[in-house]
Amino acid sequence: MQNESVYRELLEKYASHFGGEPSVAAYAPGRIEVLGNHTDYNEGFVFSAAIDYGTFFAVCPAEGTSCRLVAGDLMREVTFDINEILPSRNDTWQNYVKGTAAGIVALAAGPLKGFDAMFLGNIPLGSGLSSSAALEMCTGLALAKLYGVETDPVTMAKIGQKAEHEYAGCKCGLLDQISSLAGKEGMLVKTDFRSIVYETVDMGPDACFLMVNTNAKHRLVDGAYDQRRQACETAAAHFAKALRHPVTHLRDVTMAEWALYRRGLDPVAADRAAHPIGEDERVLLGAQMLQTGDLSGFGRLMFDSHASSRYLFENSCEELDAVVDICRKIPGVLGARLSGGGFGGSVVVLVHPRDAETAAAAIANVYNAKFETPCTVSMIHPAAGACLVK
Ligand code: GLA
Repeated sequence: MQNESVYRELLEKYASHFGGEPSVAAYAPGRIEVLGNHTDYNEGFVFSAAIDYGTFFAVCPAEGTSCRLVAGDLMREVTFDINEILPSRNDTWQNYVKGTAAGIVALAAGPLKGFDAMFLGNIPLGSGLSSSAALEMCTGLALAKLYGVETDPVTMAKIGQKAEHEYAGCKCGLLDQISSLAGKEGMLVKTDFRSIVYETVDMGPDACFLMVNTNAKHRLVDGAYDQRRQACETAAAHFAKALRHPVTHLRDVTMAEWALYRRGLDPVAADRAAHPIGEDERVLLGAQMLQTGDLSGFGRLMFDSHASSRYLFENSCEELDAVVDICRKIPGVLGARLSGGGFGGSVVVLVHPRDAETAAAAIANVYNAKFETPCTVSMIHPAAGACLVK
């Protein structure tokens, strides 16, 4: 089992806190986004992977309708009633669980009992590795089992997304939840977010990933993410009027059409729109490159993706740019780009396995000489997706 030591720690903490064993437990991993930034809610394409860091959720039915929920790292407990699951304004960590629980409860046949639950994971928070989606997906799988709710991955991902929208206040797409559910060991996940159909793609033995966490906290919930999404919607409405074929999302616009028909669109919205449109084209090109084993070409697309984030979408920051600039100068690094929402968090680096260790040390040395807060470099292995463990 992945991250077995975390699971064992959770079971010990669960037993000493609740005085018994959970009846159901589930695991869900975080994710890296490899190519295709802010394309998911524009109904475009993404390459991502589930990672070998994740979160466990352990639960047992309670007698009455009260739910006790414990964050296993800080051993903080909150209680709420299964028939009235409301978001909390102060302690936001609980909202991912509560929002997901509300989604499962809505599908369950009542009347329902409450539960005693605890979660614990090892994904660094605020690092851009989607600890929140991992928490939603392990909560969702465990509670669906507990309440006898049948779901499929897309329904489960949408429950997590709804929790983000309505309980956590971020209008995210489906990327994080789908990646956490669909991951396969050693594989990338390529998803079409229009049909929400995904496939796994083998990168071969010559590729591995480093994750460079700048430890600069990202602030998706502060509104910058939602503003970007709004700009994309404004641009899509413009192209829907300007183009002859139907446009519902930026997925329907090519770079060539963008260049020809951007006139009349606010210049900032035009720059924002160019990012997901260019990303879609890079993902499709990248897929062809992977088929022919052209990892260097794929890596160059990752560098281009970062430049597009930096200059067009403006969802990068000084620390992320510094990591990518450093990576460009390190022999053996094939590509690097910010991963996820942006505005802080992590850079995903594509490297040949034989160069991984030296590249990791070189990135950390140069970066740490420049910034007060050191970065953390970890080796990432694409891993299996979420599952029940008990
Ligand atoms: C965050 C969101 C995802 C996606 C990425 C950017 O991770 O939760 O839905 O939009 O940012 O690609």
